[in-house]
Amino acid sequence: MKAKRRAVTSSPRVADQKYPAPPKRPANRPAPAARVQASTDRPEAPAPVPAMDVDLTVDLGRGLVLPNPILVASGTFGYGVEYGDVVDVDRLGGICCKGTTLKARIGNPTPRVTETPGGMLNSIGLQNPGVDAVIERYAATWATWKVPVLVNVAGESVRDYVEVARRLDGVPGIAGIELNISCPNVGAGGLQFAIDAGAAAEVTAAVRRATDLPLLVKLSPNVADIRPIARAIADAGADALTAINTLSGIAVGPGRTRPLLGNIYGGLSGPAIKPVALRIVYEATQVVKIPVIAIGGVTELADVLDFLAVGAVAVQVGTAIFADPTVPVRLVDELAAECGRRGMTSYRDLIGTALPKRTERPSAKGVEYLP
Ligand SMILES: Cc1cc2nc3c(=O)[nH]c(=O)nc-3n(C[C@H](O)[C@H](O)[C@H](O)COP(=O)(O)O)c2cc1C
Repeated sequence: MKAKRRAVTSSPRVADQKYPAPPKRPANRPAPAARVQASTDRPEAPAPVPAMDVDLTVDLGRGLVLPNPILVASGTFGYGVEYGDVVDVDRLGGICCKGTTLKARIGNPTPRVTETPGGMLNSIGLQNPGVDAVIERYAATWATWKVPVLVNVAGESVRDYVEVARRLDGVPGIAGIELNISCPNVGAGGLQFAIDAGAAAEVTAAVRRATDLPLLVKLSPNVADIRPIARAIADAGADALTAINTLSGIAVGPGRTRPLLGNIYGGLSGPAIKPVALRIVYEATQVVKIPVIAIGGVTELADVLDFLAVGAVAVQVGTAIFADPTVPVRLVDELAAECGRRGMTSYRDLIGTALPKRTERPSAKGVEYLP
């Protein structure tokens, strides 16, 4: 092996193929001055900008300005307080806390999680202590943090969502609400709010009326066409969309006598779902004028850049946190450094570069940054 490597690197033929020698200039031909001139005319690379001078702020409207576009996704960072020893939470762009319901929930039967190729399947079942306990236990701490905390809200009826939103409204420490509408609407035969434009709009509008808090609504990927649903939610008064929640799936248990998870179904997350998330963000950003925050398989800077390119104004990191809780803060630094290296004073120039050019100029945040 060693001998082979030595032979390859020392071979003059290989070196010639890689860097062919320039053809010899006949003595009577002048030196190619014009070509030399042209090469010096090339636009100069922009001067690098110190990372600390890059503007990473994200204005989601209704007074909610995130310090940077890297958030942590609901269900993967607890209530934030659990990570205080390992992560400087105040360096995050935002925290979406665990799904919160009106009453406490014990969650689904075990097993609740399993690893899958490129991701994981979970069926936690929204285990949480209920909205009143969440406010009592965590809001005072959140109020001391710089990082905005968004409470992820789930429910079984429009009334549930509205009541949780009312209780969160005006509580110091709560910067906004993210509606998880991938929940069965018990009054409508268990059909998920998120898969029907009418139901998604109804719950969004009802919560909008119940609170002045910034309102983000989370899209489900488990639909044939996201566009009418995204439009309906935006028209119903959401301030921003987040996309995507997990993809519905199952795993088979040992002995192959039944599905593995106690709840049979689970939600697929992690790098495996990134292409689906990219597609949904790409489609949603083209039909709404409110900002879209991307979620799905973000593990490294390239993922962040990809989601910004398809029109997202920010990303949430989820499953990657289980492997390394420091990933989101590292991504903040890497994004600032990348912008600085490219001579950008704002990360916004990265948004929407992979979207088709639009004829009309969008009016709101997010896609307005299209080149
Ligand atoms: C263990 C676990 C629990 C989750 N709980 C919630 C939840 O309570 N509410 C919610 O809206 N999304 C929840 N999600 C979905 C994530 O917020 C995110 O949308 C999804 O995992 C895709 O992102 P990722 O691939 O980066 O993990 C959960 C995901 C995981 C893995």
